[in-house]
Amino acid sequence: MQTTKQTALVTGASSGLGAEFARLLAARGCDLILVARRAAKLEELAVGLKSAHSIKVEIITHDLGQPHAADALWAKVVQGGRPVDILINNAGIGLAGEFTGIDAKATEATLELDVVALTMLCRHALPPMLERKQGRILNVASLTGMQGGGPGMAVYYAAKSYVLSFTRGLARELRGSGVTATVLCPGTTRTEFDTVSGAGKLRLFRWLPLADARKVAESGLNAMFAGRAVHVPGLLNKVLAVAGELPPRSISVEVNRFLLRS
Ligand SMILES: NC(=O)c1ccc[n+]([C@@H]2O[C@H](COP(=O)([O-])OP(=O)(O)OC[C@H]3O[C@@H](n4cnc5c(N)ncnc54)[C@H](OP(=O)(O)O)[C@@H]3O)[C@@H](O)[C@H]2O)c1
Repeated sequence: MQTTKQTALVTGASSGLGAEFARLLAARGCDLILVARRAAKLEELAVGLKSAHSIKVEIITHDLGQPHAADALWAKVVQGGRPVDILINNAGIGLAGEFTGIDAKATEATLELDVVALTMLCRHALPPMLERKQGRILNVASLTGMQGGGPGMAVYYAAKSYVLSFTRGLARELRGSGVTATVLCPGTTRTEFDTVSGAGKLRLFRWLPLADARKVAESGLNAMFAGRAVHVPGLLNKVLAVAGELPPRSISVEVNRFLLRS
């Protein structure tokens, strides 16, 4: 599939992996629709990419943590009149802490963003892709999605397990259609995530090496363009992925309980 003159929608493009996806897709000649809540960050990125690559960049300031956020976003995308050829469902948050210690509304917003918005954006993007018999979807899960559970970040681990399972199933449904779905499962990566989530103080982030966001995004895009269903970047992460999925899964729950402490 040619990427030149195609349009890619990237959620969570204002920092971290999302900004790197945007830069890499711009370098491949894609027009971009960049989505996040921080308008100034998106604007700054858009200005740089437009002048460096002679591409069109639209920014949409949107909170995907609200109910029906994907429907509202898609209405804006349709209004813009450009078909989405590549959907990068990257925006995501996770909150560190015991389940009952985290504000209930914050948990609800996490699920709206990590699970509902991601799913519904696929639901909106797919029919026109299937009609054109071409399209790429990259859903960003996490190595956490391959674990038995995450005591201390239970909702985040479960949400990423959902993204992994959903995308695996979707990828199989799409086989032969010309459209592909890929799930990227990064390990700990240097972005704003550790600060926003509060996970930076945990052993997980203090002890494990942090991958470079550009490299992770690049390997994710390569897997997406190759039409792979699941991609775990990095050798150590591949080992941790296998370890997390091995029975009995209660072992990985205990390991994670240890790693998700300060
Ligand atoms: N960093 C890691 O160690 C790691 C590991 C595995 C997986 N991941 C996954 O990678 C993805 C990208 O995260 P990152 O590491 O790049 O973290 P990040 O630097 O914190 O980026 C998160 C992005 O999501 C956006 N976002 C957050 N809440 C949003 C909302 N309610 N509506 C719209 N956009 C929202 C943020 O933009 P605004 O704040 O401007 O809205 C930001 O652009 C996430 O899905 C995360 O779970 C990260």
